[in-house]
Amino acid sequence: MFKGVLFDLDGVITDTAEYHYKAWKKLADDLGITIDRKFNESLKGVSREDSLRLILEYGEMTDQITDAQFQALATEKNDNYVVMIEEFSEADVFPGILPLLKALKQHKIKIALASASKNGPILLEKMHISDYFDAIVNPASVPNGKPAPDIFIAAAESINVPVTDCIGIEDSKAGIAAIKASGVLPIGVGQAADLGSDIALVDATDKLTFDYLTTVWASKQ
Ligand code: G6P
Ligand code: MG
Repeated sequence: MFKGVLFDLDGVITDTAEYHYKAWKKLADDLGITIDRKFNESLKGVSREDSLRLILEYGEMTDQITDAQFQALATEKNDNYVVMIEEFSEADVFPGILPLLKALKQHKIKIALASASKNGPILLEKMHISDYFDAIVNPASVPNGKPAPDIFIAAAESINVPVTDCIGIEDSKAGIAAIKASGVLPIGVGQAADLGSDIALVDATDKLTFDYLTTVWASKQ
């Protein structure tokens, strides 16, 4: 039986993946760079700075931006994003997530947050679910962001559970790659076209029941 569950946040616990996209899209539009949802798949799970790097590369603007401008753009995106999540509450927790957190607690399974977002702790507070988490990894404390495995390894360590006894839940391509590389068992929230067809997938979070996790674990080779 698994002993720990490592959650991504944006797009798994709540709909913030959509707000990250809206905030990046506005920033890109202002720079004259057109990004779409397909391109956005490559931003999901990726840190703020790496996302901005990818957008500037995509728009062939990397060489035109000074370090100071880069920092200002990253701050501008986050300022816009923070306004979008200002009113977040319990109502913004995705369907099925609260019952899953409760069931995990009941079964004494440890819970950790493995999100690249520096806004993670504040979002959990706003949604009143911080108390379910035994640990929240500070993304600034790990050397390499997703798709590197660092944050999932750190999350397993933070709850004192071996990676091989953990399930990781992710909605992004980079995040699934990170989970796979860490030795944690992945469950994807999304479509096979984006996340691959070689892992357990749900198309919506209400399918993430405790029974489902148990079944996926039991079918692990
Ligand atoms: C998550 C999201 C990304 C976001 C990153 C950093 O990984 O999926 O879209 O860019 O966190 O978030 P932050 O709130 O620190 O800018
Ligand atoms: Mg995500």
